[in-house]
Amino acid sequence: MAFTLSAEQEKLVDQILARYPVLQAACIPVLHLCQKQVGWVSPEVIDYVASRVGLSTSQVQGVVTFYTMFHQRPPGRHTIWVCRTLSCEVRGAKTIQEHLERRLGCHAGETSADGAFTLKKAECLAGCGYAPMVQIDDTFHENLTVAKLDAILDRIARGEAATQDETPWYPHAPAP
Ligand code: FES
Repeated sequence: MAFTLSAEQEKLVDQILARYPVLQAACIPVLHLCQKQVGWVSPEVIDYVASRVGLSTSQVQGVVTFYTMFHQRPPGRHTIWVCRTLSCEVRGAKTIQEHLERRLGCHAGETSADGAFTLKKAECLAGCGYAPMVQIDDTFHENLTVAKLDAILDRIARGEAATQDETPWYPHAPAP
């Protein structure tokens, strides 16, 4: 079935497209908007985005497979991206990832059996000065230790919000 957005969301897509002199440049923000609505980028979403921004479906597919922030299948209720690039790697990212794999019972690219967390590896998330770090949903968690990470996951499991010292992801991004 073809993917559709609500009339309100379609207006947002129009606003996004109007920001860019070259329509194709709107591909990523339109993908974000669609993913926010349905949780992942299905083949139907790819068809929709391709038709709205004037790209082929394979070009949009190329964007989706390149950027780890896009989900190619339905994710868990929360997504954890573990940065594995140099600064985080030398400051303990491997330990962080291995701990997460043990705690969640799944490997990077998989979702825990209870559907709570999808675990992903990421290239540099631009928090190098605060390594090691992970992104959980829309929030950066920095200067991590295993104990600190466990406290964060316990808090998320209790449904509590991020604390003030945790940084919203991409804080200066315009609303999609
Ligand atoms: S290397 Fe991890 S945030 Fe840059």
